[in-house]
Amino acid sequence: MIEEPVRKRVLLANPRGYCAGVDRAVQTVEEALNLYGAPIYVRKQIVHNKHVVATLERRGAIFVEENAEVPEGATVVFSAHGVAPEVHEQAKARQLRAIDATCPLVTKVHQEAKRFAADDYDILLIGHEGHEEVIGTAGEAPAHVQLVDGPDGVDKVTVRDPAKVVWLSQTTLSVDETLETVERLKVRLPLLQSPPSDDICYATQNRQQVVKQIAPDCDVLIVVGSRNSSNSVRLVEVALDAGARASYLVDYASEIDDAWLAGAATVGVTSGASVPEDLVDQLLDHLVERGFEDVSEVTTVDERLAFSLPQELKRDMKAAA
Ligand code: F3S
Repeated sequence: MIEEPVRKRVLLANPRGYCAGVDRAVQTVEEALNLYGAPIYVRKQIVHNKHVVATLERRGAIFVEENAEVPEGATVVFSAHGVAPEVHEQAKARQLRAIDATCPLVTKVHQEAKRFAADDYDILLIGHEGHEEVIGTAGEAPAHVQLVDGPDGVDKVTVRDPAKVVWLSQTTLSVDETLETVERLKVRLPLLQSPPSDDICYATQNRQQVVKQIAPDCDVLIVVGSRNSSNSVRLVEVALDAGARASYLVDYASEIDDAWLAGAATVGVTSGASVPEDLVDQLLDHLVERGFEDVSEVTTVDERLAFSLPQELKRDMKAAA
């Protein structure tokens, strides 16, 4: 009997890659470089992607951890993940020209935190300890916010008044794990209130949704993204939970081990919200060289959201025009 050759194919997830908040943050640094000239200081990684950071560094961006590293009077851009109010105050004290590239969907969570704190609620912030977004959001109301790091963090929660508690979340979590955390919280706190609208952003949800759809058909699902990118790491977890037999996170196609592809007929491909499309193109070229020439894009939703640049930058761009 003659064995049929394995038909190798790629299922390419759509939506994938850049979300509106990342696109805006990267453009903010690029436009600031065009307008004010290099160097432009950027507090923290503008978005959590190695390649994006390295590309901006080559153009004259200098990435720092804190405002104290920025020379007085220089221009600093705050990253898409958001900052606590004290970071704005430090910038003012050092007379920095601050441009805030916080994603508007993160700003929305900051506003919710401020509003519930003003009403004296205990706020249970579901998120990952140490993540910049969580530090920024908690910084809006430190006396009211408690971090709940996943379902296992629920038992540690203590509140002043069980009738005045609300949960909020980081924007880039796993939708399913967050629901599980909320369900567990509700067992302990039946009067727990939910935020007025979803905090997990549209881009996070859409990228997880399409991965759930293709994962059961994938022998391997490769996510392009950096290890410090929360939404990219979640995509690997979602892929495995939804039935992909294996899933890996890579910054570059060159990190792929050929052993991952041995015997695979269907490879899924997606990318995190901070990943430029050229890295996905390089991955697809890499797969073509290994016989995966048949690429089908699987689309679950058409994303069209775009955010305008920060006001302070737009004002200076207009003045310079
Ligand atoms: Fe904003 Fe969501 Fe992207 S919060 S930065 S749109 S992943």
